[in-house]
Amino acid sequence: MKNIDSFTHVRGESLYVDDLMLRQDVLFGLCFDSPKAHGKIKSVDYSKAEALKGVIKIFTYKDILGENQIGGIIQDEPLWAEDEVHFWGQPIAFIVAETEAIAKKARALITIDIEELPVITTAKEAKEKGSFINAPRSFKLGDSAKTFADCEYVFEGETFSNGQEHLYLETQGCYAVPQENGSIKLTSSTQGPTAVQKTAARVLGVPMHKIEVDVIRLGGGFGGKEDQATPWAVMAAVAVQYLNRPVKFMLNRHDDLRMTGKRHPYSSFYKIGLTKDLKIKAFEVEFLQNSGAAADLSPAIAERTLFHACNSYFIPNVSTTVYSCKTNLPPNTAFRGFGGPQGMFVIESAISAVADKIGIDRRQIQEENLLAENDEFSYGQIATQVEAKNTWFSAKEKFQFEKLEDEVFAFNQENKRFTKGISLMPITFGISFTNTQMNHARALIHIYLDGSVGVSTGAVEMGQGVNTKMLQVAQSVLGVSANRVKIETTNTTRVANTSPSAASSTADLNGKAVEMACKSLIDRLRKVAAKMLSSEEKNISFQEDFVYLDAEKTALSWEELITQAMAQRVALSENAHYATPIIHFDKTKEKGHPFAYHVYGTAITTVTVDCLRGTYEIDAVKMVHDFGKSMNYAVDMGQIEGGLAQGIGWMTMEEIAYGKDGRLLSNALSTYKIPDIFSAPKTVETIPLETEGSEWAIKKSKATGEPPLMYGIGTYFAIQKAVKAFNPNYKLKFHAPFTPEKVLMGLYEK
Ligand code: MTE
Ligand code: HPA
Ligand code: MOS
Repeated sequence: MKNIDSFTHVRGESLYVDDLMLRQDVLFGLCFDSPKAHGKIKSVDYSKAEALKGVIKIFTYKDILGENQIGGIIQDEPLWAEDEVHFWGQPIAFIVAETEAIAKKARALITIDIEELPVITTAKEAKEKGSFINAPRSFKLGDSAKTFADCEYVFEGETFSNGQEHLYLETQGCYAVPQENGSIKLTSSTQGPTAVQKTAARVLGVPMHKIEVDVIRLGGGFGGKEDQATPWAVMAAVAVQYLNRPVKFMLNRHDDLRMTGKRHPYSSFYKIGLTKDLKIKAFEVEFLQNSGAAADLSPAIAERTLFHACNSYFIPNVSTTVYSCKTNLPPNTAFRGFGGPQGMFVIESAISAVADKIGIDRRQIQEENLLAENDEFSYGQIATQVEAKNTWFSAKEKFQFEKLEDEVFAFNQENKRFTKGISLMPITFGISFTNTQMNHARALIHIYLDGSVGVSTGAVEMGQGVNTKMLQVAQSVLGVSANRVKIETTNTTRVANTSPSAASSTADLNGKAVEMACKSLIDRLRKVAAKMLSSEEKNISFQEDFVYLDAEKTALSWEELITQAMAQRVALSENAHYATPIIHFDKTKEKGHPFAYHVYGTAITTVTVDCLRGTYEIDAVKMVHDFGKSMNYAVDMGQIEGGLAQGIGWMTMEEIAYGKDGRLLSNALSTYKIPDIFSAPKTVETIPLETEGSEWAIKKSKATGEPPLMYGIGTYFAIQKAVKAFNPNYKLKFHAPFTPEKVLMGLYEK
């Protein structure tokens, strides 16, 4: 089935927040934010701005009737700054005016006096100064410290991976409309409608039932709207509460880049120990996560870094620790992979460093240590249905790795102007929210009088195709054709208390709830049909809009059955709740079974480096990916290619830069480069590894949202190989992204 949004997307008819019909009395909001990264607010002069014609009101923390607090995991973030600012771009006030242009003019008229305080921009500096978000977390397996003594090769090193801007096409925004009796409807571009509802209620000081959040779809979220869509919606809600007029607030690109958090940069220190036969026996890492000025999702992201610190390898003695370091950057947040990629970059770097030291290819170490059935992860989960070796060896065989490697070698023998590099990148990614409590979802299904069906869930469509998957589930269980089923907007009034659409788990959690609700409806309808056909329930099934008896099509159509069911006063609506069984995690021991299942895969990447310019092209990325039993290859392949491109961008060209004063320097698309068609791999090939799937995956179709991003990590190491092939003196560095500037320096390093 095609993505059900493709028709309206291609015609430009799909609706986003910015497309909504506005009420006649609408006003427009704009944020006034801190022009310094750290300091005490001595005074702010709003008088000139307030005097501007068309400015309705400028809101500050003083106008908040509830709590000035938007922190989720930790209550450490005000909606609007009070006496201090902690990052450049921190919201201080909210200008509401008749037009956006007037609000912009007003913003330029506000003057602020800030007594500056010392600014921390790096995690290392934060650690030195003892500036943390919370206590560190550690995972341990075996005894790494003792084991190093028995290792033939022991190596220590440092890595850095930079942040990443989400760059969703649709910027953050919300349209807030007053309803009756103090209720407010927020149409928000959020992955977490309940987070918006809960936080708005808290800041406004009203019960949650006064706030309705509706989400049509997102022009991309990528994690950037899991938590950070909330403040903008809440600001608009505060204004609506006071003015009783609709308020629209869409961030322009510059404001969005400056004010929102990104993927966390990490500085990491590792120690790795191997035996003579290349078995990794011990691994220790200290991860320094640059969390920014408030917690946001950092503690959860830090946790996932620990979960993925060994990637696809079994290491019997592990000790990993992560520090969430508080700095004066915008609070960093969820980004596809959720800390996993940062963890995986370190083990892959460590493997490269040791391989270089020993004088072998890194893939020999990778291959020796791949995860096998019943291996224990450092967090206590026992690996089952493991496809690490399967995808690795399938990739090598199906894509003729040895031949590719020979070609690279031969090319490098003959060429100096250009050199090639090749790498293998295995991935293992755990599916479930790492926070067990969050793994639940609900669905509400209505069968209407005419047999058409409306499906509501907590799933947010952000381009990943979850609505198409929800439709497939409903359609297949009900046995009706696709055009009978409509996927409704995501709305807190229809489906309440939802987890955000995240952790690649949206289709699994919400799909299982849809399946349960549809099954209940079908059970009821089966009774009606059995009676009508004078048969028993067990002989009845539903297919292609007809009732089947003993697997034979009858004359009883779906519509007729629904009419009959209605006449017999049978309930044609159903609500279901799904909570993933089997998962658990004990934070006091840091052990448990946090993931419903894992997704596996292996990518082979080849690149060509221009040794005069330092530029490079990605020749090909060839992947064998574990889809389980994909319920929609069109959608899933889209996720593979999109995730890969995003991972390549993170590893090669997307370079976030802050000044020492904490100002974002890469604050526009002229200074922040993301992959375009020219930097995409010339060839992208994906071979599905058809496996049994997992019973916890919806229709045994494994999650595909985040895992493919990590195939992009292979690019870093392929480029590194090519640089080394040109310049044997090059000392391996693990400092992503590997920009052309760094490549050029590496090529000519003495
Ligand atoms: N794909 C598109 N097109 N747009 C997005 O915003 N977000 C990614 C991934 N793929 C995203 C995407 C992230 S971060 C996650 S967690 C998953 O989709 C969320 O959707 P899922 O749970 O349905 O996989
Ligand atoms: N992934 C994504 N988002 C989350 C998670 C997770 O594991 N936990 C809390 N929010
Ligand atoms: Mo995705 S980072 O879990 O929204």
